[in-house]
Amino acid sequence: MPHTLHTSICDLLGCRYPILQSGMGGVARSELAAAVSEAGAFGCLGMVRETPAKILEQIDEVRARTDKPFGVNLIPAATDPELFNAELDACLSAGVETLVYFWDIVPDAIKRAKDHGCRVVHQVGHVDAAVQAEAAGADAIIAQGVEAGGHVHGSVSSLVLLPQIVDAVSIPVLGSGGFASGRSLVAAMSLGAQGIQCGTRFLATDESFAHDIHKQRVIEAAATDTLHTDAFAINWPPHSPVRVIKNEVTERFVERPFGYLPEDFEREPIAEEEGRPVYLLSTDSPLKSMTGDLEKLALFAGQVSGLIHSTEPAAKVVQRIVDEALVALNELANRIPR
Ligand SMILES: Cc1cc2nc3c(=O)[nH]c(=O)nc-3n(C[C@H](O)[C@H](O)[C@H](O)COP(=O)(O)O)c2cc1C
Repeated sequence: MPHTLHTSICDLLGCRYPILQSGMGGVARSELAAAVSEAGAFGCLGMVRETPAKILEQIDEVRARTDKPFGVNLIPAATDPELFNAELDACLSAGVETLVYFWDIVPDAIKRAKDHGCRVVHQVGHVDAAVQAEAAGADAIIAQGVEAGGHVHGSVSSLVLLPQIVDAVSIPVLGSGGFASGRSLVAAMSLGAQGIQCGTRFLATDESFAHDIHKQRVIEAAATDTLHTDAFAINWPPHSPVRVIKNEVTERFVERPFGYLPEDFEREPIAEEEGRPVYLLSTDSPLKSMTGDLEKLALFAGQVSGLIHSTEPAAKVVQRIVDEALVALNELANRIPR
């Protein structure tokens, strides 16, 4: 049944509420994506640089948990082209209905998905990139503000970027970066967005695959405790900044952010995941499956951490955003003189 929060993104993606969960690499696996979709929002698997076998396994697991629609996140420009093609083949062969891409626009990656009847939602950090993504065939744009957690492509805040992108394209736009509440959903809608995408808020849920250490740091963090830095340079193209919670490592490198690894950089293993070493300054964040010096890893989180005070079930997060948004809308409507 249509409701006040129903927008064109609900029609496009087949979800009840205009709330997307970011496809966070490592963190957003089947348990989280399924819980979010089952609650009426739009869950997404974070599958950047995962093997095709892992992607197929995760897709099957979501489908076993829910019959609601969900998406898969891939990052064409930050993945070896051979692996990316195999990942895309896996998604298309499994009948994934929505791919969520991020970072530089790779028109061929959009075209291949579209040719197979798969929708493409593209997250961008610049107005130009939004225009390029639309021209390449994307169905919707996610406008990522600089306050976002994880990899951050642009340098403009959501409040300014979002309406600029809404004005620049004719496809639906979602706000991303700083959104975690119903009040912020209403704010995004009033800026012309058809919904929001939340990352940090869904990291701090029972179902996310982030290590408890990471969830706890998000809960404790103030809005000023995050840092936009390009110190974490292993695995990604040079000069790919991230927003993380400050730690001992960012303190050490803050005077010397290099954005790429110097030739003489010696890799120092500080943690491991099922026998795989995880290095200092890599873009791995602490996961449930890791052991070691996890506090020194990239603690991806947005400024919105300052508004998140507990870990909760994902369904509770979705419902609270919806309830709060309806109250906020009602309060605004009551201001209109009758
Ligand atoms: C832990 C974490 C991991 C992320 N990993 C990815 C990723 O793999 N792919 C992607 O497109 N975006 C990723 N992002 C960025 C999100 O898509 C989104 O832009 C961001 O979370 C929005 O800001 P918020 O954290 O304030 O909600 C990640 C964000 C976080 C917090």
